Amino acid sequence: MSGPIQNRRVLSGMRPTGQLHLGNYHGALKNWIELQYQYECFFFIADWHALTTGYHDTSQLEEFVWTMTIDWLAAGVNPGVATLFIQSRVPEHAELHLLLSMITPLGWLERVPSYKDQQEQLADRDLSTYGFLGYPLLQSADILLYRPQYVPVGEDQVAHVEITREVARRFNHIYGREPEFEQKVEKAIKSLGSRNATAYRTLRKEYQEKGAAESLKKARALVESNARLTVADRDRLFGFIEGAGIAVLPEPEVLLTATPKVPGLDGRKMSKSYGNTIGLREDTDSVVRKLRAMQTDPARVRRTDPGDPDKCPVWQLHRIYSSEETQAWVQKGCRSAGIGCLDCKAPLIEKIVEEIGAISKRAQEFEESPELVRGIIAQGVERAREAARDTLDVVRQAVGMNYR
Ligand code: TRP
Ligand code: SF4
Repeated sequence: MSGPIQNRRVLSGMRPTGQLHLGNYHGALKNWIELQYQYECFFFIADWHALTTGYHDTSQLEEFVWTMTIDWLAAGVNPGVATLFIQSRVPEHAELHLLLSMITPLGWLERVPSYKDQQEQLADRDLSTYGFLGYPLLQSADILLYRPQYVPVGEDQVAHVEITREVARRFNHIYGREPEFEQKVEKAIKSLGSRNATAYRTLRKEYQEKGAAESLKKARALVESNARLTVADRDRLFGFIEGAGIAVLPEPEVLLTATPKVPGLDGRKMSKSYGNTIGLREDTDSVVRKLRAMQTDPARVRRTDPGDPDKCPVWQLHRIYSSEETQAWVQKGCRSAGIGCLDCKAPLIEKIVEEIGAISKRAQEFEESPELVRGIIAQGVERAREAARDTLDVVRQAVGMNYR
């Protein structure tokens, strides 16, 4: 069975920055792996984004692209259900970015928090470039090109999805005209059946006259729940609630999932820039060495000092990896000084070594068949381009550039 509801899309991407670590795995990838079985998922490697801050040295870019592809596959991203591709192999991203750049006020880009933040953080690079300023808009194009309903991202990317919504709204406002829109909308409303049609009209009126957000939500839900509508009619009905046009580019929503914060070896958030990571394919000796040396509750100096798991990053890892039983053992043993920190780390080390071992083994298989990996990407690129071309057809027509 297929219909608009079943076809809901999810889109997300990552910059190729080298080997992924446990923070990326628990913070993003595991979530993707679940989503791929619930939605039509598009996951891409944002290689153009890598250039926005790393244009001066691209010597490792290609290596990083393939490493990340293999990390995804080894972690369980399934090319049989999800579409995996490389951004620059789908040039439609660039075309949509260009069209959106025409309608995006500079101020919107200058106001994105990461613009100033990153310039300060990466002070050794010259980031006063056109590409860097435009990077959130490139991200908007990445997203809108696939007209997804959801964009699963971390906290740090929420502002980018927010500007994406603003850009979509502006685009729809300027270009959301369709020949004979009114007649088509009337037909679509009738196809809801008389009861729902009346409800739809009432909710729209409430929203338009009083701006009632609740009515907007209800009207959208009503449209959503009708599985027999075509995608185009659904978009028309969405557009009509808010104005008199079609939502050519529907506004996507952030999908913020309760992902655990993975602590790094020093207790700060695990991040490549802090150098406190455990790699997804790191060898066992190194994983063991790093975990044995990992920061614990600083107040627990001697073996006989009781500790407090709430002040210990190792406990955060137990929360991700350990059974309730083990967790209870940690709590009790730590607070009573009944166990030492190395005792405490032992079951964790075992779990993590096992997890990384399994991922490394699968990664090895992909490393040994580069043809297979290239084939997966080639197929993903094809599928992505098909979806991207569909959107651009509608976009070009809306802008008035669909010359024949
Ligand atoms: N900007 C994201 C990051 O740095 C990567 C990214 C690019 C992305 N385009 C995207 C994420 C579109 C989600 C959707 O992590
Ligand atoms: Fe941390 Fe465990 Fe040591 Fe307690 S016993 S301080 S939880 S490592």
